[in-house]
Amino acid sequence: MNKEFKLKEGLKLGVATASCQIEGGENNSNWNDWYAKGMIKDGSNPARANQHYELFRQDIDLMAKLNIQCYRMSIEWARLEPQRGKYDESVFEHYREEIDYLQSKGIEVLLTLHHFSNPMWFENLGGFLNPDSPVIFEGFVRKVVAELGEKVDRYVTVNEPNVYATSAYYFGEFPPGKKSVKDTVKVMTNLVACHIRAYKAIHEMRKGNTLVGYASHIRVFEPENPKSLLDRIGCRLMRQMFQGGIDFTSMTGKRVFPLKRRKEFKKGKYYDFIGINYYSRSMVHRFDERAKQDAAHNDMGWELYPKGIRQVVEEYYSKFNAPVYITENGTADSKDAFRAQFIYDHLKELNESNVPVERYYHWTFIDNFEWMDGEKERFGLVELDYDTQERKPRQSALMYSEVIVKHGFDKDIIDKYLDKK
Ligand code: BGC
Repeated sequence: MNKEFKLKEGLKLGVATASCQIEGGENNSNWNDWYAKGMIKDGSNPARANQHYELFRQDIDLMAKLNIQCYRMSIEWARLEPQRGKYDESVFEHYREEIDYLQSKGIEVLLTLHHFSNPMWFENLGGFLNPDSPVIFEGFVRKVVAELGEKVDRYVTVNEPNVYATSAYYFGEFPPGKKSVKDTVKVMTNLVACHIRAYKAIHEMRKGNTLVGYASHIRVFEPENPKSLLDRIGCRLMRQMFQGGIDFTSMTGKRVFPLKRRKEFKKGKYYDFIGINYYSRSMVHRFDERAKQDAAHNDMGWELYPKGIRQVVEEYYSKFNAPVYITENGTADSKDAFRAQFIYDHLKELNESNVPVERYYHWTFIDNFEWMDGEKERFGLVELDYDTQERKPRQSALMYSEVIVKHGFDKDIIDKYLDKK
């Protein structure tokens, strides 16, 4: 079988990160607090992470060396607004420098406004459970766009509202560690309102070519036993509860189950691209889900299921009809044993579909603070030694870099990185 292929024109390849996972620093965020409460499995501290706040030039130099074309980064709300309404102008200056430096290397920026971390003052007001949270968040967004809007023309408003809401309010794994369906739905509802408000505010402030979307974590859900009615019902329900409802309402403003009513929900179109974070598939047994058992898995036990990326991209494109950005796709692989193949398989699936996929941001550039899993899980193209802060590109990074230059996989790349035996 001929394994070579050329990527489509119009697709740019890049990497994604999140500020709280790489920057380091004691920022009085809910994740600094979660660490202090002993909630990180391996005891590691987000204040260490990658020291990217200081070392950003070094990291960007490395991105440029790896030929990265586009970069999805986030900004840290807790640093920018350490007390309610009191902004730290030096932090805006820092991000301006960072964005300038990226652009000086020809790297396009996609800016995420919220990626799982909150300032403690906001968390203490109830975070996104607070019915006023969309208004508070809009205030922050307006300030950011006033400060950085000249330099940025692509935004992700909220990262994975579904993962945030379920991890923090249903599974109890993210701060504040609640376990309540009612609260989960409230938080989902408020996050959709945040997105809609941010979408409108950015367009109101930045006329012209600014593009705005959000990044949804979209999984493939399948009944474990397709013959079982309960598994089929469970599967539909879970898909709707986790992603179907929140995505439909975020994109169209039309409220559907399980979301609650809010005044922001008015019929409209609230996306300029469809942002998809794709990782894996869930098999549903009644009202529980788990990874498929007889399959290949990553270090965290997530099934490796490349076909799923095409499935979700095609499903969402047919529903919402806009260019697709793969805002995240990657895997935990500490030995770098299957990451190169993972990238090949997922890009191949995307390539075989007719959907216009314009961006692919690999998750992630460098090993980082993996939320409650701490420093153990390794998603990076670049390996990090946390003690020395030394960065070392893995083989998969070298492959990715060559794929970017050649805009595809030729025989040379395949022989070198994929068919090594
Ligand atoms: C999140 C990232 C996270 C990754 C791997 C995504 O859900 O957006 O922040 O590191 O998954 O777990």
